Amino acid sequence: MYINYELTLSLAFFLTKNLKVVQEYDKYTEEDFNVWKLLFDEQMQQLPTIASSSYIKGLENVQFKNSEIPNFTAVNKLLQEATGWKIHVVPGIIETLPFFQNLSNQEFPATTWLRKMSQLKYIQEPDMFHDVFGHVPLLSDPVFCQYLKGLSKIALDYIDNANVLELMARVYWFTVEFGLIREDGVVKIYGAGLISSPGESLFSLSSSDLHRPFSVKEILATSYFNDRYQVQYFVADSYQQMYDALDEIRTEIERYVAEEIEVKPA
Ligand SMILES: [Fe+2]
Repeated sequence: MYINYELTLSLAFFLTKNLKVVQEYDKYTEEDFNVWKLLFDEQMQQLPTIASSSYIKGLENVQFKNSEIPNFTAVNKLLQEATGWKIHVVPGIIETLPFFQNLSNQEFPATTWLRKMSQLKYIQEPDMFHDVFGHVPLLSDPVFCQYLKGLSKIALDYIDNANVLELMARVYWFTVEFGLIREDGVVKIYGAGLISSPGESLFSLSSSDLHRPFSVKEILATSYFNDRYQVQYFVADSYQQMYDALDEIRTEIERYVAEEIEVKPA
């Protein structure tokens, strides 16, 4: 079953604007700890062989364990040392502007709540397992972080242009959420939507017919699905290749704007 817990940037809405939220660690229940452990153990049966080595190294860098829901204060100290990034607590899906503002400030927006035991296979919004287990380990990789920050700068320059934001959502979607990377000739997963999804992680690697080489032009021209598996995934050669592509992303977006090319979601 597909687990729909992805951000839909162009349709993002605010739950509680300007509300200062924090992780209340003492309020996690025994069920929360059990859910974290079950999800963690399930994913770790496969991730060591199918996930990018940077993600696996990142898991060690941020010291995630199956027995402990990550404490953001401790994780942020480790992230600060590694890349200067931190987790920024949000109550749920946030609007596009604060989302990219957070990224440009080297803060990754993440929720603190976990799905219930009855929701292990399906939740409608990203929970902490997706936001934290899926995204945070790679925030200890400096080049990946520079790429993420670079994306946010482009998005902020066009924050009032819905067309461009849809293009940026495509880039974010096909890299940060559902990206694949080739390491020593083997295609691995690094996108958080794949890392945190038992079904789609395996599906994305199930056939080379699903794989396209990383291409800015092609990604910008490809709409994505937020309610089912993707029909193609883009395979980068390295995070450096993605970082180096930021200039091309900006150039292509300028072309879309100049030629008034309309972009429609799937
Ligand atoms: Fe995500």
